[in-house]
Amino acid sequence: MSKQFSLSVVALAAILGMSAAQADELEVLHWWTSGGEAKAAAELKKQMEAEGHTWKDFAVAGGGGDSAMTVLKSRVISGNAPAAAQIKGPALQEWAAEGVLANIDDVAKAEKWDAVLPPVVANVMKYKGHYIAAPVNVHRVNWLWANPEAFKKAGAKVPTTWDEFFVAGDKLKAAGIIPLAHGGQNWQDFTVFEDVVMGVGGPEFYRSALVKLDPAAINSPTMIKVLDTFKKIHGYTDKNAPGRDWNLATAMVIKGEAGMQLMGDWAKGEFLNAGKVPGKDFVCSPAPGTAKDYTFNIDSFAMFQLKNKDNEKAQKDLAKAIMSPSFQELFNLNKGSIPVRLDVKLDKFDDCAKESNRDFVASSKANTLLPSIAHGMAVPPAAEGAIKDAVSKFWNDDKETSKDAQAEILKASKTK
Ligand code: GAL
Repeated sequence: MSKQFSLSVVALAAILGMSAAQADELEVLHWWTSGGEAKAAAELKKQMEAEGHTWKDFAVAGGGGDSAMTVLKSRVISGNAPAAAQIKGPALQEWAAEGVLANIDDVAKAEKWDAVLPPVVANVMKYKGHYIAAPVNVHRVNWLWANPEAFKKAGAKVPTTWDEFFVAGDKLKAAGIIPLAHGGQNWQDFTVFEDVVMGVGGPEFYRSALVKLDPAAINSPTMIKVLDTFKKIHGYTDKNAPGRDWNLATAMVIKGEAGMQLMGDWAKGEFLNAGKVPGKDFVCSPAPGTAKDYTFNIDSFAMFQLKNKDNEKAQKDLAKAIMSPSFQELFNLNKGSIPVRLDVKLDKFDDCAKESNRDFVASSKANTLLPSIAHGMAVPPAAEGAIKDAVSKFWNDDKETSKDAQAEILKASKTK
């Protein structure tokens, strides 16, 4: 966030007051507008309405939330912040530093959040030791989704390495099936990119290059290998990918027009919403070469400071509801993710969720649990945006070499 933005937020918020919402109204900004996402979001709305609050839906379409964040900034600058907004990772700290978020320690203390959340998660939800956000879930990003029927038709095997990926891709192509369903925003390109960084370079390389932004790692021959592999994948997507939303890419796999998609497990929400059965109609498998690794993406809602005390009650009830075991179960069954609380039973969850949970725990012990950069979990937003743009430019430009892209990524990683 720029200095200019910082000053204007503080000044205008002071002049105009923090919220223009009505009494007992709960305005919630989110970007959950695809079929599966909307179904999950509706559970939160239902619960708040059952508690007597008026839900004002502030949905801003656009997977990954870039548009939602732009709209949120303008709303806060004009002194009209929603009660809660979907904000994640390091961006939470930036918003808190603006002095516009509410302290929800009382809810967290009463509900014992410190005891039920993994400490790595709790730390992200706190600013200077105080809770300012409530976490909803854990999404695994490094998944490959496949249509078994399409694979059968092509005589191909679901790949577990990048070499196998290209073999399967060629067979799918020969059978007239688009190998990889892909969309057009930079976060979708980066979702594939970080899978390749992990699969080709391994977790330590991922940590150095993408989390620590270590220039030596970015400048290494391993990065060239990653970029070469990444670029090769482009040849397995279709011409209409630019501009396509992620859920429409998932629909291509559901229909068997495409064989695979590399996407976080919100894609499972789409399969389930279409009535598809995991293990039968679709398959989840870790992205090639990443079976022992886990890139995580945690959704959370930050609470904004409000003037109206009635709205504050609704806001605190929202924070409480989000973290309740019953909501964590219901929401995540629809969303494709797993509960963020360590004490929720997974009996009702499918095998993909159970695998995600097993791998989350195992990778955490093995130190191969890593934040997703594509989904705003590790890098401050300015550098993250610049790196994503560099990667997408390379993905879309036939003339750019891996060496050029490497230099661009290095430059972007220094953006403050
Ligand atoms: C992510 C978000 C997920 C999912 C996805 C696509 O950033 O964390 O919950 O919805 O975007 O919209």
